[in-house]
Amino acid sequence: MPISATAPQGVNPLLDSRDLRLPRIADPCVLVMFGITGDLARRKLLPAVYDLAGRGLLSPAFCLVGVGRRDWDDEAMRSYVAQAVRSGARTPWRPAVWEQLAAGMRFVTLSSFDDAAAYARLTQVVEDLDARRGTGGNRAFYLSIPPGWFPTVTQQVAACGLVEEAPGAWRRVIIEKPFGHDRASAAELDTLVGRIVRPDDVFRVDHYLGKETVQNILALRFANTMLEPLWNHRYVDHVQITMAEDIGIGTRAGYYDTIGSARDVIQNHLLQLLALTAMEEPTSMTAAAVRAEKEKVLASVRLERRGELDLDATTARGRYDAGFQGGVPVKGYLEEDGVAPGSRTETFAAIRLEIANRRWSGVPFYLRTGKRLARRVTEVAVVFERPPFLPFDGAATAGVGANTIVLRIQPDEGVTMRLASKVPGSHMELRDVSMDFGYGGTFNEESPEAYERLILDALLGDAPLFPHQREVDLSWRILDPVIDRWAAAGEPDGYRPGSWGPASAHQLLARDGRTWRRS
Ligand code: BG6
Repeated sequence: MPISATAPQGVNPLLDSRDLRLPRIADPCVLVMFGITGDLARRKLLPAVYDLAGRGLLSPAFCLVGVGRRDWDDEAMRSYVAQAVRSGARTPWRPAVWEQLAAGMRFVTLSSFDDAAAYARLTQVVEDLDARRGTGGNRAFYLSIPPGWFPTVTQQVAACGLVEEAPGAWRRVIIEKPFGHDRASAAELDTLVGRIVRPDDVFRVDHYLGKETVQNILALRFANTMLEPLWNHRYVDHVQITMAEDIGIGTRAGYYDTIGSARDVIQNHLLQLLALTAMEEPTSMTAAAVRAEKEKVLASVRLERRGELDLDATTARGRYDAGFQGGVPVKGYLEEDGVAPGSRTETFAAIRLEIANRRWSGVPFYLRTGKRLARRVTEVAVVFERPPFLPFDGAATAGVGANTIVLRIQPDEGVTMRLASKVPGSHMELRDVSMDFGYGGTFNEESPEAYERLILDALLGDAPLFPHQREVDLSWRILDPVIDRWAAAGEPDGYRPGSWGPASAHQLLARDGRTWRRS
């Protein structure tokens, strides 16, 4: 059916015609952003807000209130946001979009997060915007700040009445990871947020769930017939989930040095990828149904290897040394600006897990992540068993590996199947070949950025792409013993920039007679 270029009645005229089949436009509202001057807001959140506006998915009445410690007025915030948008947005700069968005921007300066007078000003600003721009009293609070400030900010926001329920209006809190430091602190954080809004109004951002390719895992598994019959211990030998980055920690030492790669990535992104890869089919795609299946699988995760717990054999961690990356000299982690002297923070982490259920019994899931590795790649590789019998002579199949389905999360998003095939010629020789599906070559539509999808969903009150507190808790249950063991075990192993991590990561798989892909 041709798509009409004319916006239907009642739809924002800025709506991009390609998005007409998605008329999911957020209610008028005020988005209050704590941490607007931070790195994440500048690189991701503000460009995403603009892109949503550019796609016509925000109401014309949408307002953005920045809260921060800079001595800014509204104009200074606008020019900061404009810069962030010009360098980070996906959609073109359009003066009409910008003007509409900029008209709803305000900045409130705090001397510190417990500056009660500033919260009183914030309340006035929000109420004034409600009245002037018709936001219907709807408010979302985006907390993109270190979790140490959560108690103060939630307490102050509650004290000034900003989150008091009002008939017909919604209040939501959007929080960025880390969701705590361990299981106990995550529970405390949840209690704090629970004091200001109802549990259904808390949106925990794991930006991996906003990625198209991550959402596609459920589509591939549950909208097709071919994969599901094979997706179990009878055919799958093991699964490798990798999130590798070639960059170092950059200017993020203040955050990263207190966290390390297991908390930064495994606790959230990689365990979510594991849950989506291993879960059973949900009864529907509602938040409750999808979360229920993810929770079951996370609750079945075991650190034991064939029934025995030996974390020194089933986990590995490392820290990048000084060296060269792509021919360029790079600092070691300990020399990076802002890293504490004697820090033991890991920049590489790998874990072997099993899932104690009928589908996955005996199939190891290997998770790894790290900075300054050989290249940037995130993928889920499902490696199948070898055929039980090969009617070819040994030489013919010498170059054949295991069948593998690779869900390529990024970059070069798509799916690859590795299969054996005959090499053309007069004798029988087999070699592995790839069957590829690439997003770029298949769809005309460009994928939205993860944050566009997640901010829009939070403003729409759509929960399926946000992990529930129970998932957060179950993920910490898995990770806490590993982190405790590492804390007791001393220094992480060093590894060379541009490599695939420390020797211990390779030994982890070698113990099972396997190797990492690409290493
Ligand atoms: C974040 C981590 O969650 O994900 C960062 O805190 C990491 O350390 C980033 O660099 C990677 O995100 P992406 O979308 O580039 O894979």
